[in-house]
Amino acid sequence: MNHNKMKDLYAESTRNGGFYDHLMGEYDQMMDWESRLARETPFLEKVIAEYKVKSVLDAGCGTGRHCFHFLTLGVEEVVGADASEKVIEVARARAQAVGGETRFVQAEFTELAHKVGGSFNLVTCLGNSLSHLLTYDDLELTLSNFRQLTTSHGAVLVHLMNWDRRLARQDRFIPPKGYPTAEGEKLFFRFFDFHEELVTMNLVIFQKEEGPDLKWSHRVISTTLRPWRREILLMALDDAGLKLEREYGGLDASPYHLMNSPDFVFLTRRA
Ligand SMILES: C[S@@+](CC[C@H](N)C(=O)[O-])C[C@H]1O[C@@H](n2cnc3c(N)ncnc32)[C@H](O)[C@@H]1O
Repeated sequence: MNHNKMKDLYAESTRNGGFYDHLMGEYDQMMDWESRLARETPFLEKVIAEYKVKSVLDAGCGTGRHCFHFLTLGVEEVVGADASEKVIEVARARAQAVGGETRFVQAEFTELAHKVGGSFNLVTCLGNSLSHLLTYDDLELTLSNFRQLTTSHGAVLVHLMNWDRRLARQDRFIPPKGYPTAEGEKLFFRFFDFHEELVTMNLVIFQKEEGPDLKWSHRVISTTLRPWRREILLMALDDAGLKLEREYGGLDASPYHLMNSPDFVFLTRRA
């Protein structure tokens, strides 16, 4: 392998977007969107009503599932942004089929204000996406971008894994998720390796092979995450000029408990 090819390989494996470039449409197979959106909708509807939301920016939008869902909840203008050009391409293709007012922009979290521009009644960052940021400076800069893109009476909604609980329990595994395909069953299994500061998230995709033997092939992709604890997140919110309004233990609006809640969800507004 030549020198430049080798450099590209290492550049990609350290860039978080690379993980999703490799995953593409399979993220949607793993996610079980129907039941997820059914669970999240009552809370999202409440937020939309409370903040009189007409426009949403979904940061780390992936293939745009939440964006299209926001349109069905009465939001008039939706923009999705993501670092991965490949998932943005999937989202744009879907937007053509769905219609409605959606725009998809390739952008890192830290360059949203510059690349997206304008202001929104609601900025969302869902599905643990912020954990892809590895430094405090990037976290603060990202939250400050969210603030700049929010109208004066608007809100920022962030949804993360509750890392305080997961780290305390050294809880490495997410239950596997099956998905039927024409070629045979697929199984998605995520697990974490905890390091001193950072976490490796591994995704093993098992595919049942055709034929009478019960054989499975598999491939593994991994990415590095920063397990942001609540205390650091609150500090970064403050530094970015955002005020915490409310916290929840998930997008089902359950109360937040540091050591019991599976997720950490917070609503903030401009300080
Ligand atoms: C776990 S997925 C979440 C997708 C979707 N929001 C959800 O709730 O299912 C994380 C998304 O964040 C994107 N992402 C990761 N790092 C990013 C960064 N630095 N800037 C913008 N997007 C990023 C990835 O490309 C991916 O689509």
